[in-house]
Amino acid sequence: MRIGLLTGGGDCPGLNAAIRAVVRVASGFDDEVLGFHHGWRGVVEGDASRLTVAETRGILAQGGTILRTDRYHPCEHEGGEEAVLETIDQAGVEALIVIGGDGTLGAASRIADLGVPIVAIPKTIDNDVTGTERCIGFDTAVAIAADAIDRVHTTGESHDRLMVVEVMGRITGWLALCAGIAAGADAICLPEEPADLDELAAAIHRRHAAGSTSSVVVVAEGATFFGSERNEHESAGAVVHRGLAERTGFDTRLTVLGHVQRGGMPTATDRLLATNFGVSAIDAVHAGSFSTMVGIQGDELSLVPLASVLGGSRPVPESLLSIAEQLIVR
Ligand code: F6P
Repeated sequence: MRIGLLTGGGDCPGLNAAIRAVVRVASGFDDEVLGFHHGWRGVVEGDASRLTVAETRGILAQGGTILRTDRYHPCEHEGGEEAVLETIDQAGVEALIVIGGDGTLGAASRIADLGVPIVAIPKTIDNDVTGTERCIGFDTAVAIAADAIDRVHTTGESHDRLMVVEVMGRITGWLALCAGIAAGADAICLPEEPADLDELAAAIHRRHAAGSTSSVVVVAEGATFFGSERNEHESAGAVVHRGLAERTGFDTRLTVLGHVQRGGMPTATDRLLATNFGVSAIDAVHAGSFSTMVGIQGDELSLVPLASVLGGSRPVPESLLSIAEQLIVR
């Protein structure tokens, strides 16, 4: 059987572990794996090469993706869908495994509706794909962000400063919330719940009046606010930095973690998840279970309808928000 494979959207640690698992397990079935380069763009342009076990040796712990990636969406370009169908037909691809976040998998769902046999694998450091509790890359990003926040804590303490750390997460606050809790942030600003900077400043004042000499505020890049104008080109972290410096008068510093959170080696947990997802995807292909996405609920791997990703981003649950609310300054 000839199986196509692509990685689309923003990269993340663990993609290579999934690629390796797909290729190794497929080789046990005598399948041939054709790797498309730069996500859906590679399918549209017919840009692909054969992936063998030899080529995927040694990539388990490597960050990034050996297939490269791109945010190209075939359904948003004239002739894109037709070009996908033509490549799949001409290359003799009998099944396509698509590794991506909501944008890439949204495209996968539309292409599957056109008759292409697709099994999807969720990845994104944002951890917000609907239909799975975990996405490849999230565990590593939480570890990186928590480590950075730990470091910001000690320098903030040394200088009696108010430290603001901006982490990724445009639509949902999974990364801000989990890294913030893990690293003992004093406050966390999320896209899900608009923050009131007057209240936040007052809470930080109370904390310092009670003896603290420094505080750390974690801000998701998509956080929203009451009572503060956002200047053009100002990031969410910059709004909090400016807003709290003005309101508290404390010496305040901003750290924007950016793409550091998406780079480097995956954690063992992400390697394991990616490997499980890769193996499950090949199983699904052989079972003929197409138009599906592999996912995980608790410890159980599952197959969910691919169309479920079209339901939008998965917000952080109330239970996690409530844990953060009980720990942060008030
Ligand atoms: O897709 C995940 C993500 O890292 C988001 O958290 C972030 O907003 C975005 O990608 C950044 O995208 P780019 O790498 O294209 O700047």
